[in-house]
Amino acid sequence: MLDPRNARIAVIGLGYVGLPLAIEFGRLYETLGYDIDAQRVADLRGGRDGNHESSAGEIASAAKLRFSADASDLHDCNVYVVTVPTPVDEHKRPDFTPLREASRVVGRLLSRGDTVIYESTVYPGATEEICVPQLEAASGLRAREWRSANTVST
Ligand SMILES: NC(=O)c1ccc[n+]([C@@H]2O[C@H](COP(=O)([O-])OP(=O)(O)OC[C@H]3O[C@@H](n4cnc5c(N)ncnc54)[C@H](O)[C@@H]3O)[C@@H](O)[C@H]2O)c1
Repeated sequence: MLDPRNARIAVIGLGYVGLPLAIEFGRLYETLGYDIDAQRVADLRGGRDGNHESSAGEIASAAKLRFSADASDLHDCNVYVVTVPTPVDEHKRPDFTPLREASRVVGRLLSRGDTVIYESTVYPGATEEICVPQLEAASGLRAREWRSANTVST
């Protein structure tokens, strides 16, 4: 079980869900907000949220929050919170591409004992069927503890 005092949190995907979460974590814990959109990361570093959801003051209040579009900056984290989009196509079928990609990025960086939490909207069972195989293949580790439906520990 991770001691919260030692948590180094990564939030993967800084949209409507991820940014406020990263700000709240970043007030207390070392937190890295990661997004593949380099322009969004540059804006957030400058205190600008293009979604107009969080103010510059709120972003600045998260003293332990850093932003990056470079996945290698995630290497020191031990808790990964995935908040990437799960869009649906015209037949209402979910597109899991961002979730698979984010899981592969996280999987390559995982160490034994790390925790991965999925906040993205998925149907029941998708965490086990879609995300965990990507984490395991990329990390060479096996998921072992299930503390809640969307939480994976290695
Ligand atoms: N918006 C809500 O109120 C809400 C509420 C509950 C759940 N959700 C779910 O949370 C998830 C995220 O929703 P959102 O509204 O924050 O989405 P969003 O589109 O606002 O933000 C997603 C962010 O993820 C980034 N991203 C995409 N692929 C990535 C990748 N592979 N690695 C890193 N970053 C990546 C995008 O650049 C974007 O900044 C969705 O599954 C959504 O259904 C949303």
